[in-house]
Amino acid sequence: MSQREEYENSLKQEIRQLIKEKNAIMLAHNYQRDEIQEIADVTGDSLYLSQVSADCNAEIIIFCGVHFMAESACVLAPDKKVILPRLEAGCPMADMITAEKLKKWKAENPGIPIVAYVNTTAEVKAESDICCTSGNAISVVNSIEADEVMMVPDQNLAQHTAKHTNKKVRWWKGFCPTHHILKKRDLNKLKEEHPDAKIILHPECPPDVLEMADHICSTSGMYSYCKESTAKKFIMGTEIGILYRLRKENQDKEFFLPEVMICPNMKVTTLEDVHDAIKNLEPVITVPEEIRVKAWSALDKMLKVPRDN
Ligand code: 13P
Ligand code: SF4
Repeated sequence: MSQREEYENSLKQEIRQLIKEKNAIMLAHNYQRDEIQEIADVTGDSLYLSQVSADCNAEIIIFCGVHFMAESACVLAPDKKVILPRLEAGCPMADMITAEKLKKWKAENPGIPIVAYVNTTAEVKAESDICCTSGNAISVVNSIEADEVMMVPDQNLAQHTAKHTNKKVRWWKGFCPTHHILKKRDLNKLKEEHPDAKIILHPECPPDVLEMADHICSTSGMYSYCKESTAKKFIMGTEIGILYRLRKENQDKEFFLPEVMICPNMKVTTLEDVHDAIKNLEPVITVPEEIRVKAWSALDKMLKVPRDN
């Protein structure tokens, strides 16, 4: 074993020990570094991690993901201390809409319900009627008693949802830089090399690219789809962190991914950061109570809607 591996192993053991001692739970999004997913108590997509935050018995949540996810945990579990190991782990898409911009958009379009993707700040959620994730956006929009909705901030998720509902959908012009840059030619290149591979895409990809998909779903939907499929090869259109569990859980199958798809924010958190965060119990994420209560209402409504995939 190399010195680096020995060092990593002892860090992993220390982290697990501290988590036990402090009655904490370690949650990791499906895009986190492999070594972080490996030692987390729970890995999952945004929807599943929100549900675990709301339901778990731990006193402390170590959230390995990005800022809006830790904020959602804080909103849903106000009695728990929520820690985000690296404060600067943000989401550029979430920053594409602010509460002020949303208020203005609402004033220009009175009476139309707002559906906020969970990739938003708590302030934006507080200004919204209901939240959604990539795993339930269609069901959430269908659950609303109105003929028209406005979705923020992801134009691609909104356009994908619009194709699967009878409601009129308006959208904000935000996007995820990691998914939005995916081009048909990136997929065509992989498809030429692996013609029998199925193409599985995240709805944050642009509409013309989504036309190439055999299946479109959230990150958790990707695990179940690939596990159940009889196909042996898959081209994945989402962040590279998805490969860790896919390969571990499907050793008889092969997975390919366009090399452009890396989210730097999801990769910023290291084992050292997690170790220091659990040892020192910081940085703590907080949400002002008047915002929290309103954001909770939008998230709680979402949690009552069944998953799409
Ligand atoms: P899901 O895990 O909900 O599919 O979200 C993808 C994402 O971009 C999170 O940042
Ligand atoms: Fe935000 Fe995209 Fe990174 Fe997810 S993958 S955190 S949506 S920038």
